[in-house]
Amino acid sequence: MLGRRKPFPHGILSIAVSFFSSFRSLSSSNPSLQNPNFHKRTTLNRNPRNISINKPIDSLTRPLRHTTVAPEFRYDSDSSSLEISQISEKFSSNVTSICSLLFGPIQQNRNLDNLLKDFKNKLNSDLVLEILMNYRQLGRFNTLEFFSWAGFQLGFSFDDSVIEYMADFLGRRKLFDDLKCLLRTVSLSKGRVSCRTVSICIRFLGRQGRVKEALCLFEEMESEFSCVPDNLVFNNILFVLCKKVTSGESIDVAFAIFQRIECPDVFSYSNILVGLCKCGRLESAVEVFYEMGTAGLVPTRTAVNILIGELCELRTKQDSIEKVKVKNFCRPFSILVPNVSTKSSIQPASEVFWAICKLGLLPSAFVITRLISELSRLRKIEKAVEILKVVEDRKLRCVDECYTVVIQALCEVRRIDEACELFGRMVSQGLKPKLVVYNSVICVLCKLGNVEGAEKYFELMNKKRCAPDNVTYTALIHAYCGTKNWEAAYGLLMEMLGFGWCPHFHTYNLVDSLVNRYGRVDLSRKLEGKLDTQLLQKYCKAGKLEAAYEKLSSMISKGFCPPIYTIDIFERAFQKYGKLKLARELLEKMDQVTQRSNSEA
Ligand SMILES: *[C@@H]1O[C@H](CO)[C@@H](O)[C@H](O)[C@H]1NC(C)=O
Ligand SMILES: *[C@@H]1O[C@H](CO)[C@@H](O)[C@H](O)[C@H]1NC(C)=O
Ligand SMILES: *[C@@H]1O[C@H](CO)[C@@H](O)[C@H](O)[C@H]1NC(C)=O
Ligand SMILES: *[C@@H]1O[C@H](CO)[C@@H](O)[C@H](O)[C@H]1NC(C)=O
Repeated sequence: MLGRRKPFPHGILSIAVSFFSSFRSLSSSNPSLQNPNFHKRTTLNRNPRNISINKPIDSLTRPLRHTTVAPEFRYDSDSSSLEISQISEKFSSNVTSICSLLFGPIQQNRNLDNLLKDFKNKLNSDLVLEILMNYRQLGRFNTLEFFSWAGFQLGFSFDDSVIEYMADFLGRRKLFDDLKCLLRTVSLSKGRVSCRTVSICIRFLGRQGRVKEALCLFEEMESEFSCVPDNLVFNNILFVLCKKVTSGESIDVAFAIFQRIECPDVFSYSNILVGLCKCGRLESAVEVFYEMGTAGLVPTRTAVNILIGELCELRTKQDSIEKVKVKNFCRPFSILVPNVSTKSSIQPASEVFWAICKLGLLPSAFVITRLISELSRLRKIEKAVEILKVVEDRKLRCVDECYTVVIQALCEVRRIDEACELFGRMVSQGLKPKLVVYNSVICVLCKLGNVEGAEKYFELMNKKRCAPDNVTYTALIHAYCGTKNWEAAYGLLMEMLGFGWCPHFHTYNLVDSLVNRYGRVDLSRKLEGKLDTQLLQKYCKAGKLEAAYEKLSSMISKGFCPPIYTIDIFERAFQKYGKLKLARELLEKMDQVTQRSNSEA
């Protein structure tokens, strides 16, 4: 593990760096090229090398051509001009020979000029690249040493692909000083720095959060390396600037760069979109979005997600709390309500959604759910339903969640027919409504006095194996009480108590007074006994011994005898706290009372 974290032993670094210091002396001969941002040098350890060169020390890194890169960074595939198989055949013998020479026993002061003299006039870009690509076997030291040597042989007039490979190699290892030296050396020699090379540097600098340096490199590339930025460079610098945009200042810089692009492409637009969203300039973001549409371009999905997501978010952020005076009471008072009149950005959010949809793209499930929730929350339920249809048609995995949100919203405003219709559609599609959906529908039906309707959903949920909870039961109990159906209300309350759910006091009272009104004092007593038992168990489980003791005492005095199961719980709770004796005494008293009442009976 340790070996992997420290990517290379000191020995290799020191010698590798000493080679690059020859670049440095070359480039530093021109003081105008000095870039203040590139002078944080690593302290060099000049110990002689002391490692096993055979170890694949670079196992963590991969060469450029095998990497998957973010779409913003995707290289043109046609410009990777090398066909590996071809090269391999053409050069394999030379590559193998050079590699085995480099690989051989390491001597102090090895002289590559001597070692590789047979190959000097055979050197060319393809051969060099082939050898660089063997870096895993060669190790970092040999790779860099060979590259330096070959570079000086050829005046660094390599093909772009070689320099790009090296830039990637150094970038991955965070050798940014060496990277900069490479660019200078190449441009001061007979070589050429390509846009792609600069892009690679910018990308690695950005990845390390060295945004200033990336920007510096971008600004100076033309003057220093005579390299005019192309879209790839623009897009990479925009990506770096926009990804972690924090201040208005940095987005201004990014936007200025964006405007310099003659013909911005999908990635230029998408990057700037992301940046504008991240710093809260949503109006400009929406403008850029539509401008993009005019240019016939579709933003990346990431950009779309961020744009719609932020537009929904803005709504929530802006929601202020408003004080409202209530005057039509004898003593006026104020209540706090959300200020929903706040300028909404939900409209642009759904417009952007539909524009995107027309272009054949959809935001992520997460963002769609968010949009539907936001529309539902603002009671723009028709709009939410329209989007739900898209979700349904495309069989997105958020369809469940979206149905839930919309049905709940419809229930909240008591549009029960529409809610039931959507519910039916949901079931007919093989979806399984969750408990909250059943509860929403059942509660509204109950409140509207449609007990039969509520019963149907209650039966359905049992059939579909969706277990009801205390909310379901409470809603139905209240509805039965409303229609004076005391038997059903009593039955459900007993069932609820049987599940160990304590009803709210109000619910209990409602049923109790109803059965009393119908002369069923026996049932009232049964209810009381069951509730007491339930409470007793609750206290015992919570370790509230005093409350439990009092509860049982009062039960005894009322002539209730809890079931054996509950008595066990009671005993165990007291035993746990070393008070079994106390419990036993009370239980004995209970036995005496029950025996007495039995003999009296
Ligand atoms: C080389 O490594 C060995 C074992 O890791 C160590 O004992 C020795 O001192 C090292 N030599 C130098 C010159 O660093
Ligand atoms: C390099 O490759 C060429 C072509 O395969 C071959 O003729 C030549 O002998 C090789 N050179 C060495 C030094 O191996
Ligand atoms: C509610 O928001 C609107 C729009 O932002 C604003 O004009 C109005 O003053 C706000 N009301 C209160 C009481 O804050
Ligand atoms: C249902 O139970 C939960 C937790 O047990 C409780 O917070 C809630 O108030 C109960 N609701 C009703 C309607 O009984």
